[in-house]
Amino acid sequence: MQATINGITLAYNDTGRGLPIVFLHAFPLNRTMWAEQESALSSHHRVITIDLRGHGESDAPLWHYTIDQAADDVRALLDHLSIRQALFVGLSMGGYILLAFYRKYADRVKGMVLADTRARADKPEEKAGRFQMAQVAYKQGPSAIADIMIPKLLSPATIQTRPEIAQRVRTMIEGNQISGIAGDLMAMAERPDSVPLLKQIACPTQIIVGELDQATPPADAKLMAEQIPHARLAIIPNAAHLANLEQPEAFTRLIEEFDSELTT
Ligand code: MLT
Repeated sequence: MQATINGITLAYNDTGRGLPIVFLHAFPLNRTMWAEQESALSSHHRVITIDLRGHGESDAPLWHYTIDQAADDVRALLDHLSIRQALFVGLSMGGYILLAFYRKYADRVKGMVLADTRARADKPEEKAGRFQMAQVAYKQGPSAIADIMIPKLLSPATIQTRPEIAQRVRTMIEGNQISGIAGDLMAMAERPDSVPLLKQIACPTQIIVGELDQATPPADAKLMAEQIPHARLAIIPNAAHLANLEQPEAFTRLIEEFDSELTT
């Protein structure tokens, strides 16, 4: 499905009925990374998966991207769909966007799942790495970004023994436009520190991290769990950064458990 949001076309899926769950994907992927969760949860929920600006089937304008702008796109899409409140799941960059969304629109958030993400801003050397990667995208295209990103996103065991997952991630990355990849990198480099926000989070929060995640390691997840009042932390074994793709059943079960506590 498609909607015109803030002057661009956003692609999304809207499946099932019940309490809405909104999924925000990682960099530089698209909404199909949530296919397993969408299929499992849409029997008793309204599941919304979104190709964020710059990704998948959404427009990727050559423009100044920001994490706040992505949060504004999500809010405008929810308005378009007449969704007042939802449970949100954000993984990695999706988590950065979810924290920005909470900062701006806390009353729209019934509960949050922050997966394989972190609250702090980039360090100077990480910002420099973003700009170097943007140059690679510009000069060599999305397949060079896939070469760099796949070992950061998936565990060595997944890459070796489940090549179909690595191929799926590659296809998602290669389907993006350079403008979207570079736009995201600059948006992530500029994102503010969300650590001061953590103590103010008043909605139920579930934190999830793959035990082998090196991009946003369990230490980042533990910091969020310590600072967010009453947050719960779950560490998924045998998963790295894309824990929902590497261990889809465990990931979905955590959402279901969190949801059932939220709604009872
Ligand atoms: C992601 O998975 O969204 C990225 O690894 C996030 C990042 O580069 O900080």
